[in-house]
Amino acid sequence: MNFDFKNFPEIKTERLLLREATFKDINSVYELRSSKEINKFVGTKRVKNLEEAKDFIEVCNNLYQKEKRIFWLIAYQTQVIGSIVLHQIDIPKNYAEIGYKLKPEFQQKGLMTEAMQSVLGFGKSKMKLKTIEAFTHKNNLASIALLEKLDFVFQPNRKCKTFDFNRIYKLEIN
Ligand SMILES: CC(C)(COP(=O)(O)OP(=O)(O)OC[C@H]1O[C@@H](n2cnc3c(N)ncnc32)[C@H](O)[C@@H]1OP(=O)(O)O)[C@@H](O)C(=O)NCCC(=O)NCCS
Repeated sequence: MNFDFKNFPEIKTERLLLREATFKDINSVYELRSSKEINKFVGTKRVKNLEEAKDFIEVCNNLYQKEKRIFWLIAYQTQVIGSIVLHQIDIPKNYAEIGYKLKPEFQQKGLMTEAMQSVLGFGKSKMKLKTIEAFTHKNNLASIALLEKLDFVFQPNRKCKTFDFNRIYKLEIN
């Protein structure tokens, strides 16, 4: 691995900036993590107030220091429109899980494909990841379409221990 978790790895794509979340982003994080619509298929608890959004940013920063999570906010023309995360990072196993969300008005424009391609490229070239997995609700057709487009493969024989409704998708990187 040649990424050392010292400076946060900001990523620029054609249309997006993937950047670190700070306490200035509490409102954006609250919006993304409290919305019933955005989180319709997400098992983890929605945040209930700004304090919980602040706690979430703090947890992300702490897990980054421990080399376990990289949480990026997705900015489009200076506005925060979503997030993408590598988490459960296991450096000895070259493993991570990926998660993502976008505000509804920015969906179906190819933006998450663009963000995912950059983060997967970063995981491959800088972190030397060999396996990236995604856990997604079996009825989350948008998420499944996104994963299949990016060559993640459904693992029908594996079960998510936390949420029974989740499917596991796996990307093996050569
Ligand atoms: C999943 C999500 C991130 C997809 O982001 P997006 O920017 O809309 O995806 P893209 O525009 O890059 O599209 C990727 C592929 O998925 C397809 N797709 C997107 N939304 C779809 C939908 N609602 N139904 C069916 N297919 C869909 C696209 O057509 C595209 O495939 P194509 O290029 O072959 O046409 C977005 O729907 C979202 O934020 N959902 C709410 C949060 C969520 O459920 N996150 C996942 C938790 S595991």
